[in-house]
Amino acid sequence: MNAPLPNSPAARDVAYHVHPQTNLRKLRDEGPLIVTRGEGCRIFDETGKDYIEAAAGLWCASLGFTASERLARAAYDQMKQLGYYHTFRQASHPLVIDLAEKLLSIAPKTMSKAIFQCSGSEANDTAIKLIWYYHHAKGNPAKMKIIGRKGGYHGNTIAAVSVSGRPDMHAGFGLPLPMMRHTEFPHYYRLHEDGESEEQFAIAYRREANIDSGAVRGQKGKLSGDAVFQACQLAIETYNRPRVLSGCIGDAQGLSRFSGVAA
Ligand SMILES: Cc1ncc(COP(=O)(O)O)c(C=O)c1O
Repeated sequence: MNAPLPNSPAARDVAYHVHPQTNLRKLRDEGPLIVTRGEGCRIFDETGKDYIEAAAGLWCASLGFTASERLARAAYDQMKQLGYYHTFRQASHPLVIDLAEKLLSIAPKTMSKAIFQCSGSEANDTAIKLIWYYHHAKGNPAKMKIIGRKGGYHGNTIAAVSVSGRPDMHAGFGLPLPMMRHTEFPHYYRLHEDGESEEQFAIAYRREANIDSGAVRGQKGKLSGDAVFQACQLAIETYNRPRVLSGCIGDAQGLSRFSGVAA
């Protein structure tokens, strides 16, 4: 990319807009990618060039980059009827009730309540707050440690980025928060030694992962969302921890906008 032309949308973007997770010097020198249109899984930039957007934006555009007539109509009708309301201090509204009920009907059976946030980062911060709240209520306010994976990404907010194992995202901010710990990630493809089988790798990681007095023992080395979920369940059952699972199942299964709390 070349430096943006004066007064172009790209030059105005550089002049007026700070992008998260962006090298601002590179942005200034090369300009932004300005996306003007979507069509299913494709996006188009301002020159009309199209791209297959295989990451679904930030892993969240599962319905594509344009709304169907039905979705657009539902959004339009709702905006006309009630464009905004919150759920603080006992306020509610019909759609949030419907959505909570629907989510619980398809979520793992251990969950009995939903709490909504505006982003995955906030969902993870909220899960962490619920865990801390539980331990404060039980008289264990010092129980603050949260274990994340090296290389893991859980979002951009202070707690979520702290539990993420990304030194590049911590540098310059005085993060991670001191109660966050990081352990290895069981990624056979990236981390196995020459000649090491998946089974040998899994056994080695099982040893490595006997963290927190064996809380998640026996489950490392498997990569599926189910395995991570089982490991979290085991930890919860072993230690009778609060059943706050959004960080676990949300991140393992790509549902990070949903936090669940079981009774
Ligand atoms: C696994 C995971 N957790 C959390 C997040 C943060 O979500 P958000 O960008 O909605 O704050 C992301 C976003 O990319 C993610 O991929």
